[in-house]
Amino acid sequence: MRDKAAHLTLEGTTYTLPLIEGTESEKAIDIQPLRFQSPYTVHDLGYASTSSCLSAITFVDGQKGILRHRGYAIEELAAKASFTELAYLLFHSTLPNPCQLRGFEDVIEHSFFIDKNLEIIAATLPLEASPLALFATVLASLATFPPFLSESKEEASSLDTLGLSLLAKIAALVCLVYRKKYAVPKPQPRAGLPYAQQVLYQFFGSGPEGDPHFSQKAKALDTFLLLHADHEQNCSTATVRMIASSGGSLLSAVGGGLAALSGPLHGGANQAVIPMLEAIARQGDEGQSFIQRAKKGEAKLMGFGHRVYKNHDPRALILKQLVETLLDTLSLKDPLFAIAKELEHRALKDPYFIERQVYPNLDFYSGILLKALNIPQDFFTLFFAMGRAAGWFAHYKELVLAEKRPLYRPRQVYIGPTLRPFLALDKREVDPSTGL
Ligand code: CMC
Repeated sequence: MRDKAAHLTLEGTTYTLPLIEGTESEKAIDIQPLRFQSPYTVHDLGYASTSSCLSAITFVDGQKGILRHRGYAIEELAAKASFTELAYLLFHSTLPNPCQLRGFEDVIEHSFFIDKNLEIIAATLPLEASPLALFATVLASLATFPPFLSESKEEASSLDTLGLSLLAKIAALVCLVYRKKYAVPKPQPRAGLPYAQQVLYQFFGSGPEGDPHFSQKAKALDTFLLLHADHEQNCSTATVRMIASSGGSLLSAVGGGLAALSGPLHGGANQAVIPMLEAIARQGDEGQSFIQRAKKGEAKLMGFGHRVYKNHDPRALILKQLVETLLDTLSLKDPLFAIAKELEHRALKDPYFIERQVYPNLDFYSGILLKALNIPQDFFTLFFAMGRAAGWFAHYKELVLAEKRPLYRPRQVYIGPTLRPFLALDKREVDPSTGL
């Protein structure tokens, strides 16, 4: 591509802009020189046509419904790898050998322990607050405890210590918030439990004893976390990179990522799907009237649509199968699952959704899975964050260690008033009817 270029003619001047091609033939025009050679910027509301970085972590082809992490297909990873194995891959670019994986998981297991003072902080918070608000507060407090207290990110090895700690601490703090909120007795982390089993044990306060399905539930949670681990420049990961670009700490970047994730158009969607399905169940028309309202713009099908996928989201296909298997294993019949499948069936043959290429996304079936695991609805987005923490760290690390690390600082097109004289306080207009 080096010899190829884009030529842009503006007001009689032609600008030559280099082209960039990724390893999967993704093509981009390098628009950076334009600003230095002309008065123009490019306007791209919502960044739909903007590539903000070069990244070697995750590849998505939204037209074909392809998702790969470091070259490995999500279907194969979901079938053959664990969440921690994928986290290792995201952090280090290669799959771990058995010894490397054991070392990685040992550090994570050890990091599940949290400082007593963090528990005290959590205990002082008003427990009627949302789990997200409680979690965000204790997450920010984590910055005052080692190893985050004195972050050193100049070397990959010290950065990796932070990443491993982050994976465990995010899970441990979600569990802490649940235990405080629901007054569940606190168990110490148990040695030898794989990551997802440790999470269930720490969350509910009970382990494999007495639950014949404990390992199958943990396996389902593990795959859920793996499917949420990374998705290139989504809103929260782009926020993490934005904060990292100013030199912000890992925890402040992750705090920003969490805030971006919490919105209903991103990770908050998984919490919104269940009430939507419940409303459809009460209506008793298999989603017909809800679909009509969505088509009129009066409602949104939560868990549908994606900025990048204009085809099936491969994660949604895997999750649907996972829910089917889990409900079978637990001999559970969730009527919301039948409603969700019917809603999907109706939407996918409706010209409105076909024309707009709106398919179920990751969040559509994930809530039904978490519900089957007895995770309360207002914790769903925190479980998304638990998985996404792996991707957030991988992107933070990639940016911090990159040769070129410019400050992320987009431009704008100003549409406010032009220069006008300042009005003294006593000269400003007052509404005569109200005197205000
Ligand atoms: N329900 C009804 N109509 C939809 C939906 C939906 N869920 N999604 C898109 N559309 C329509 C939209 O109304 C628009 O129609 P028109 O062209 O007539 O105005 C058209 O499809 C294009 O939509 P858009 O909002 O411009 O597309 P986008 O790429 O900016 O939006 C989205 C992506 C995720 C914000 C949007 O699909 C949405 O709001 N979905 C519901 C929330 C959701 O499930 N979010 C989770 C996203 S995936 C997981 C994650 O990253 O967290």
